[in-house]
Amino acid sequence: MSWTIPQKWAEDYFQVCREAVQSEEAFKHFRSDPRFRVVLEHVTKDLGAEYRRITLQRFPEMELWLKIIAAVEEVGGPPELYDYGDGVSLSPTTWRYLKVVSDLRQLFPDLLEPNMVEIGGGYGGQCRVISMMLGFKSYTLLDAQEPVDLQRKYLSHILDGLDQHCVVCTTLDKVGSVDYDLVISNYAFCEFSEELMHEYAQRVISRSKRGYITVSNSRHQPAASAEEFFPSGWRRLEEKPLTSTQGNYIAVWGSDRNLD
Ligand SMILES: C[S@@+](CC[C@H](N)C(=O)[O-])C[C@H]1O[C@@H](n2cnc3c(N)ncnc32)[C@H](O)[C@@H]1O
Repeated sequence: MSWTIPQKWAEDYFQVCREAVQSEEAFKHFRSDPRFRVVLEHVTKDLGAEYRRITLQRFPEMELWLKIIAAVEEVGGPPELYDYGDGVSLSPTTWRYLKVVSDLRQLFPDLLEPNMVEIGGGYGGQCRVISMMLGFKSYTLLDAQEPVDLQRKYLSHILDGLDQHCVVCTTLDKVGSVDYDLVISNYAFCEFSEELMHEYAQRVISRSKRGYITVSNSRHQPAASAEEFFPSGWRRLEEKPLTSTQGNYIAVWGSDRNLD
């Protein structure tokens, strides 16, 4: 398999994606499905609190956005929602997505209306908060077919009209030759086989002026090191909070700023 997680996990996760696309009932709670949570939506309450602390410390004005974010938080039925003292309830995993927004703002403050691409965007949760808080000219999500179908459905519930927002959910084989301003990939690119990393590197990473890639080193199978596929000049930043003792990091290029 080109995705190196245990095959059973991948099959179950793809099956949840299919069910959520086909059935309105399944769509109401796919984010809570244990088969889905093996892959996604599994940030703990304490880790969520840490993401919130870092995010609000850097960007206190983010608090103004929380009501808007929370208004659609129940779509897809997250497993647990917590009010950490903001008067709104969010899933800890959504706090991780918000922390990524704060990283992007800190690293790329001058980036206006970028053409963005996300490799392995889950159900579209990261795209959702970026579309609300950062904006972009276009946002392309590249994933396997089942998550792509789910991303389309989920994001259509959140944004009125994907075309109108220039959000495209597709697979790598269907995307043309495009240059991007920013590529992001969190806990995804690093899980691919060497062949798939190579393909994404050639078709996407090397065509992106800037990059933000969270690399998790808790591998399930021996896989190529993601480092080989980053463009020259990339830097290794610390993942904060560190979610694995096995040396996770964030690969960044196109920015000389650091994360505090
Ligand atoms: C651990 S999840 C991370 C999801 C998301 N980035 C997040 O932070 O919540 C790994 C992602 O890689 C995706 N993936 C699996 N095979 C893929 C492929 N061939 N191309 C792109 N993404 C793929 C999965 O569907 C999933 O979205």
